[in-house]
Amino acid sequence: MASDAGIDIESLLSEARSFAPPDDFVAHANVHGRAEYDALCKRAADDPEAFWGECARNLDWFAPFSKVLDWQFPFAKWFIGGKINAAYNCLDRHLKGPRRNKAAIIWEGEPGDSRVLTYQMLADEVARAANALKELGVKDGDRVAIYMPLVPEAAIAMLACARIGAIHSVVFGGFSAEALADRIIDAEAKVCITADGGWRRGAHVDLKANVDEALAKCPSVEKTLVVRRVGSDIKMKSGRDVWWHEIVPRQSAQCAAAELDSTHPLYTLYTSGTTGKPKGVLHTIGGYLTHTLMTMKWVFDLKDDDIYWCTADIGWVTGHSYTVYGPLAAGATVLMYEGAPNHPENDRFWRLIEKYRVSIFYTAPTAIRTFIKWGDSWVKKHDLSSLRLLGSVGEPINPEAWMWYRKTIGADRCPIVDTWWQTETGGIMISPVPGAIPTKPGSATRPLPGVAAEVVTREGKPVEAGQGGMLVVRRPWPGMLSTIFRDPDRYKSSYFSQIEGCYFTGDGARRDADGYFWIMGRVDDVINVSGHRLGTMEIESALVSHATVAEAACVGRPDEMKGQAVVAFVTLEGGRHGDDKLKEELRKHVVKEIGALARPEEIRFTEALPKTRSGKIMRRLLRQIASGDETLGDTSTLEDLSVLARLRDDEE
Ligand code: WTA
Repeated sequence: MASDAGIDIESLLSEARSFAPPDDFVAHANVHGRAEYDALCKRAADDPEAFWGECARNLDWFAPFSKVLDWQFPFAKWFIGGKINAAYNCLDRHLKGPRRNKAAIIWEGEPGDSRVLTYQMLADEVARAANALKELGVKDGDRVAIYMPLVPEAAIAMLACARIGAIHSVVFGGFSAEALADRIIDAEAKVCITADGGWRRGAHVDLKANVDEALAKCPSVEKTLVVRRVGSDIKMKSGRDVWWHEIVPRQSAQCAAAELDSTHPLYTLYTSGTTGKPKGVLHTIGGYLTHTLMTMKWVFDLKDDDIYWCTADIGWVTGHSYTVYGPLAAGATVLMYEGAPNHPENDRFWRLIEKYRVSIFYTAPTAIRTFIKWGDSWVKKHDLSSLRLLGSVGEPINPEAWMWYRKTIGADRCPIVDTWWQTETGGIMISPVPGAIPTKPGSATRPLPGVAAEVVTREGKPVEAGQGGMLVVRRPWPGMLSTIFRDPDRYKSSYFSQIEGCYFTGDGARRDADGYFWIMGRVDDVINVSGHRLGTMEIESALVSHATVAEAACVGRPDEMKGQAVVAFVTLEGGRHGDDKLKEELRKHVVKEIGALARPEEIRFTEALPKTRSGKIMRRLLRQIASGDETLGDTSTLEDLSVLARLRDDEE
């Protein structure tokens, strides 16, 4: 299984360094010391429902819940009978005390422009945007697509939907028009909120042009709401397109928050699975908000005077849970930065940390590896002494990157929280609690209180310490997805059909003798490029939709910077021979169908794909070929890879 996951277990096993939480951090930590942590875990394990019920009472409820959990395997409902509103919890409840005048969002645009919104200002803007959505005909339960750059209006749009019970579906601005259309069609969105464009490395990203192209295929969309961000010359379709600045500012800043069931959907977010079609992961209000709020406290150790920065785009779940809902529910000051880390120069992030005195910084391993490549001199130019806690998310962090992060960014002083979780889990599941748990470079350490994560065999039996296995979760947790939008069967088959009685994460993991988890990466057909999840089937379908392609198989190959890179094996129609020109054309085709993030790093033409006798593509063999496994010999000139399969002749 280890080779299956493409992970080198040996190098992980040799990692023996451990870092205790610094004394001064422990002294002030929300969960301080091992004893308090153990007591929390024990309470959660002894009576999970009482424990989560207590956590949920940190939120403001219009009506209390009468039952914590209704678990009809595999469907969980949390905080039954409770009435709640996510926007109210992120905004209104902070207006009653001194947080009213605290900065909720400090935003900096790529060109250097900036805005600060206090909780009161943000609440007013959200109310106006919510009233504008109502004017556009949006009602409780309607879906609203959001395709935006990282500007305050993106968060405002999400919260405005939440305020009136509309379900948002944010689509990452790097996705193509085709990918946007697929997601809008699946969600049957009524309104699409976008911008004329966004800034990326000094250039415009033409979001509105993509929306126009996508909407040609999306009859459900009646209106678009367009933020003017870059001031580019765009076409506004009369009767459909409405400028944000023409409709939002004239609205009232009063808009009562809808009193919604705890189990009312909050949002859908599409994510890659093992089939060609992305899944609309659905999160509901009460459970999701409880989970994201508690993890802000436990994992990020949030205090009222922190300046908290999560670098994720709101197009991904990390941006949902840890730029918008979690931190705002907790009353944090959130830094948002619109653009690229290397604009105008490679030190933009360090410049931002120094300028705003960021104290908690949360980013991805792929970014860390890029910073290492750019060199320490960019970091050294800046005073990063405001930092007190560092976080990592999105993919396994290699111990070398972890050590660099600790030394060069954290000055050997800041604990690192390596947080394992997924779009589906809603919030962090496995992570150090920084004032209690010693860290080891490369390990996400231990499941959080109340999270029943385990490593098991395919038969569902616990594996011994040090052995690789499947990462599962045995009991429901509050942030858990409630279903796949309009596809409960797919929900069951994607997560609950592999290992009996458990939620299967799709990841492989190992637990060491101290009970620490080491995530080994995906064991299914999902690859993780720069922390972004891509289904191999999605890229394969995109390739096959090109007129010249008969069959395609994509695999991930280890990549120093991106974690994994996409390698595509392609057979052409009618025995046609491929050349570099066609390779480039196919790459462009994938970018058009999905987006630049799915662009295959390498395309290899072959006369036939290696298959087992039962006709299954031998992906393990392809992974070995793609990563240049020497035991296979030189396969670069082998035109027909099925020959290799015959030599092997083993069933996968
Ligand atoms: C991977 C992102 C190792 C994992 C929040 C998971 C990680 C997938 C970590 C989810 C981590 C995320 N260590 N691997 N700390 N965090 N992953 O849905 O394979 O975009 O299943 O959610 O990313 O990706 P997703």
